[in-house]
Amino acid sequence: MCSVVNFNINGYHYKLPIIYGTFYEKAINISQLRENTGFITFDPGFKNTGITKSSISFIDGEKGVLLYRGYPIEQIINKCSFIETSYLILNGELPNTAQLKSFSEKIKKFNSIHKEINQILDKIPNFYHPMGILSSLTYILDIFINCLQEEDMYLHLLAKLPMLAALTYRKKVGLPPSHADDHLDYISNLLKMFFSIPNKSYEQNPIISDALNKILILHADHEQNCSTTTVRLLGSAHTGLFSSISAGMSALWGRLHGGANQAVIEMLETILKNGGNITKWIEKAKNKKDPFRLMGFGHRIYKNFDPRARIAKKVAENLIKKLRISDPILELAKNLEEKALQDSYFIEKKLYPNIDFYSGIIYQSIGIPKDMFTVMFALGRLPGWMAHWKEMKLNRDPIGRPRQIYIGYKKRNIKN
Ligand code: SDX
Repeated sequence: MCSVVNFNINGYHYKLPIIYGTFYEKAINISQLRENTGFITFDPGFKNTGITKSSISFIDGEKGVLLYRGYPIEQIINKCSFIETSYLILNGELPNTAQLKSFSEKIKKFNSIHKEINQILDKIPNFYHPMGILSSLTYILDIFINCLQEEDMYLHLLAKLPMLAALTYRKKVGLPPSHADDHLDYISNLLKMFFSIPNKSYEQNPIISDALNKILILHADHEQNCSTTTVRLLGSAHTGLFSSISAGMSALWGRLHGGANQAVIEMLETILKNGGNITKWIEKAKNKKDPFRLMGFGHRIYKNFDPRARIAKKVAENLIKKLRISDPILELAKNLEEKALQDSYFIEKKLYPNIDFYSGIIYQSIGIPKDMFTVMFALGRLPGWMAHWKEMKLNRDPIGRPRQIYIGYKKRNIKN
């Protein structure tokens, strides 16, 4: 394998080192490029740019592979809980029984929030989008939490984010705040905090908790996606963990990123409401003059099936069958996927369903309202965001500060 790349500019010869990853993905190390050649690179959207070395997750977009700390997502989804997956992503190894017990107990130790959070939540108008509420409350958490141990910060967030999400949901639907139940596992506690009704016992449904466990695992980490890179960028400026995570939530909220799960259901409902003519909507998605895009389709990295979409589709089918829900949206989604994958536009552009295409159907079947879908995505992505923030510090990544190509005015003087 070559270790340098040689090139000439204006008759001068240069060489730059090549670095290789675990699976021999290769990169030209351009950290000395400008110093040596006076040139910078130009790569809007960082489509060809690696910003760090990471060992947390790995995606092979051509083969549709996703590994968390080396373990294939297909194995994790069947053998691990979301809390075990969170431990793996944060610490690099799967926990043994004692480690898992201690991790879960420490999280329970932090599963309360200050009364001021509820008072602040009361003041937030009901029309605020849940992602805006969650991001704001996450930032505010910083005021109330003074951790001596860095690890406790991660545990506080794993404990408190589901509480903030549940409080946000309950505020929207007019239910009083709920509290954590230490006798329950992470997922059962999350569901009870969301859906329990005062003075009534909450009956857990293992079908629903299994589906929620799986869909949170599917979201746990995904290399340098927009929101994770946002968290790393803030961390590189030595911004605190809570503020960095809060900013990551705001990045996730975007319709092209984590907001797509809500946009998918809205798209499917619109198609259904307008007669369900799939061909018409696929033609709209292909029409450059039409701003309509097939939400939940396409991915910057996956040019093959998103393995998470395959799993999410099975979880959705299984959930709907076992809950005996007749959901025309799922049928429409499957027909739309089938039709799009036979269309040359989607085949040539390698546009496949991504995680967001089916995740909304799962959330909706569990009883989560559309505008809370991205909140659920954030709950799943939390371990990944925190692991990247932690790794950025361990890597001692320099403050992120890209350059630009200036195309504005030449130097000019203000006229007197
Ligand atoms: C997530 O990065 C991650 O890992 C993200 C994520 C994670 O886990 O963190 O996986 C989660 O964000 C998944 C993506 C959710 N977003 C959507 O489903 C929104 C719809 N998808 C598109 O907006 C788009 O596919 C993106 C944003 C996902 C990817 O955009 P890229 O990589 O910048 O690709 P592009 O927009 O340049 O598209 C390439 C071509 C274009 O056509 P041409 O200009 O080359 O002729 O494909 C077309 C696009 O018009 N295209 C689509 C399309 N997606 C891309 N055409 C119709 N429908 C689509 N959905």
